[in-house]
Amino acid sequence: MPADFEHDRLLVTCASGKQASHLLPHVSEKWKNITLAVHSSTSEERLKNQYPTRDVVSGDLMDPAFVKRIMNGVTAVFHLCPGFHPHEDIVGYNMIDAAVEEAKNGSLKHFVYSSVEEYLMESGLKYTILQPTHFMDMFPVPMLVQQSSPIFVANWDPSIPFSFVALRDLGEAGAKVLIEREKHFFAQYPLVSDGPTPYTDVVRHASDAIGKSIKLEQRPFQEAVNFMLDRFFGEDVPVRARDGMERMLLFYNRRGLVGNSNVLEWLLGRKPTSHEQWMRLAVAEAKQ
Ligand SMILES: NC(=O)c1ccc[n+]([C@@H]2O[C@H](COP(=O)([O-])OP(=O)(O)OC[C@H]3O[C@@H](n4cnc5c(N)ncnc54)[C@H](OP(=O)(O)O)[C@@H]3O)[C@@H](O)[C@H]2O)c1
Repeated sequence: MPADFEHDRLLVTCASGKQASHLLPHVSEKWKNITLAVHSSTSEERLKNQYPTRDVVSGDLMDPAFVKRIMNGVTAVFHLCPGFHPHEDIVGYNMIDAAVEEAKNGSLKHFVYSSVEEYLMESGLKYTILQPTHFMDMFPVPMLVQQSSPIFVANWDPSIPFSFVALRDLGEAGAKVLIEREKHFFAQYPLVSDGPTPYTDVVRHASDAIGKSIKLEQRPFQEAVNFMLDRFFGEDVPVRARDGMERMLLFYNRRGLVGNSNVLEWLLGRKPTSHEQWMRLAVAEAKQ
């Protein structure tokens, strides 16, 4: 059975984040009942203004009581985990335990998780796992458009190829999975829009689209770790998050992240967004 927009309640976690901001335009007008869960009061305020008819709640996904409360009466969950959360596993367990309870005694029919999760596969829930690769949208187009002599400083070896996913494709694919529901039970979808492409080529596409030659540099490893952690945590960095970031950058430096776009093409029913296409759209938006 597909989603019943009139009677179902959809819960989206990390609703203020990058992935959700590209999912919500595809679903917010369809479902009558949507709960948007965030962490901070700033994001709560922002989403309440943006989606005034939706239930926006703030709380910590580490708190099982909060998770149980937001899961109550939910039919479909789109679960996103906070990036580099030092206890991603506990957040996942809280969500899945509350979902199992709601499936048993309440209304839950579908759990969509945008990551890999063995605990979910063993839970007995009807799940779909989305496995997005590296986001195209992390590339700082607005900053490069503004600079008179633009410089892109890579946080890993820019000659190593990556496969990329465009958040606009990811949002559309996530909405399709929620809407069509049963068709996607027990599926795992590796989601890639384009690539493998090294950042040297990404910078070339950006230079062409912006119309200025962008200089490419690489940050030394430890500086790159600190730079990335600062973006997620500011001054107070949990030690486990530092371990995770160091491991990720070492992996990126040697192996990148590669995949294949066939699954996303099938899911969308169209060619996913190429890097050149995305770059043109991002430059046009930045110049507005
Ligand atoms: N970057 C990539 O290339 C990439 C690729 C594939 C997968 N991913 C995965 O994407 C996920 C992150 O998604 P995103 O990029 O959409 O998020 P994001 O833009 O980093 O935003 C973080 C979200 O987490 C919420 N949050 C933070 N701490 C929380 C807590 N304790 N309890 C509840 N909510 C909390 C924030 O809410 P507030 O706004 O209220 O603070 C915000 O909505 C991660 O699991 C990451 O591994 C990233």
